[in-house]
Amino acid sequence: MQITSTTQPAAATDADTIAVGVFDGEDIAHDVADGTLQRLLDRGEARRAFKRLAVAHAEEKRWIVVGLGERGRFDPERARIAAATVHARALELGTATLCWEVPHHLDDAGVAALVEGTVLAGYRFDRYRNHPDDDGAALEGLIVSAHHETAATVETAAVVTAAQNRARDLQNAPGNELTPERLGRRAQEIAAEAEGLTCEILGEQDIRALGMGAFAAVAQGSVQDAQLIQLRYEGPDAGGPLLALVGKAVTFDAGGISIKPALKMSEMKFDMSGGAAVLEAIGAIARLRLPIRVLGVVGATENMPDGGAMKPGDIVRASNGTTIEIVNTDAEGRLVLADCLAHAVAHGAERIVDLATLTGAIVSALGTSHAGLMSNDDEWNGRLEAAAQASGELLWRLPLHPTYAEVIKGRYADIVNVVETRKAGSIAAAEFLHRFVGDVPWAHLDIAGTANDTGAPYAGQGGSGFGVRLLVELARRLN
Ligand code: BES
Ligand code: MN
Ligand code: ZN
Repeated sequence: MQITSTTQPAAATDADTIAVGVFDGEDIAHDVADGTLQRLLDRGEARRAFKRLAVAHAEEKRWIVVGLGERGRFDPERARIAAATVHARALELGTATLCWEVPHHLDDAGVAALVEGTVLAGYRFDRYRNHPDDDGAALEGLIVSAHHETAATVETAAVVTAAQNRARDLQNAPGNELTPERLGRRAQEIAAEAEGLTCEILGEQDIRALGMGAFAAVAQGSVQDAQLIQLRYEGPDAGGPLLALVGKAVTFDAGGISIKPALKMSEMKFDMSGGAAVLEAIGAIARLRLPIRVLGVVGATENMPDGGAMKPGDIVRASNGTTIEIVNTDAEGRLVLADCLAHAVAHGAERIVDLATLTGAIVSALGTSHAGLMSNDDEWNGRLEAAAQASGELLWRLPLHPTYAEVIKGRYADIVNVVETRKAGSIAAAEFLHRFVGDVPWAHLDIAGTANDTGAPYAGQGGSGFGVRLLVELARRLN
């Protein structure tokens, strides 16, 4: 989709379809010559209520009038939903190029959200379909028309949502296609596509040689070679703290010897969602030339049961020296992340965010709208919350506390990877990770509920790309 902006009136663009929003208590701002759109409103065919649609034909174009509801309640999330609603109707109508006439007084975040909603709603994953539904219809172009200059806002939103859709491609790709090595190759592509990026990948032998016994234990049950993927970004005039973004990328989580039930096991192809978000977010950060330094660390492996697989009761040593008793091989994400986090700290990370589809418990606690946020630093936590508000990728904080840290202490080793009571499962997992970051300001995002099939109006099926907008927003606010 070609995305452009203009200060010309929507009617003067070469779009075949124009979207016009109307708020409660307001009228059509720029009507066609004979007043067709206002007449639709006056007759009640077009409505001002949120998401109500009406279609008119005038001046050789199609016009979609969309209700935006109360102006005071209109926020970027509503703008994304309105854009997705319009997008669906525009596609049905055979639209090639859609122009959004930006409502008066909409701020930059609102304008960006119109682009985001359209691009995210336009995503499809039909690579494996011989006969895609509706023949793979897609918009060719999106034009944003506003009285004021919106070029930079629109361009940024286009870059970020393209990255988010690429993360969804990685998520939706099945485990037989997206192996750890394939994810590594994607990281190399990302590095080649933008300036200031370098990619370095370590294989399973290197992982073992570096003493990453926790990560290696997960990888040993799989025939696929595990990969420690590192992306470094050095922006122009980079200042501020070194930001480490760490991602769990278990390309398929069968549970290992503590094998999962068959029901919904196929969804465990999404267990690489944190890693996908980290890689594509860094790609977007580089395209935007943000003046910061970022270290991406993604641990990619399968978690499979075979004759060489780790076993319940095994004790391993992570690269920071901590010994871990593996009580349950299905709690593999924290094993992978333990070594990735220690690696980030050892490489000078001054701020850390990790993203992981870590616990089913977070889905019980928060559902699919908010990811769990756990942090050892109130200031850094506040940064994450602010970025979440601004990006619409929502977070909800859960506590860390010495009482929770106490329960992961081990009988045979320093710590256990699962506490048998299963109380506060998401927090216990976070306290496990806490052991590998020490005092470096760190935020752990448990995205098990938000990574896929969230039901959101613009990205509700399959991978959601959750985290890409949030991480880019965080990076934009870093200094
Ligand atoms: N990848 C899963 C977490 C998960 C569960 C993601 C459901 C998405 C949906 C993780 O590796 C896992 O298996 N966690 C276990 C931990 C348990 C054994 C303590 C879980 O949550 O059941
Ligand atoms: Mn698991
Ligand atoms: Zn997992």
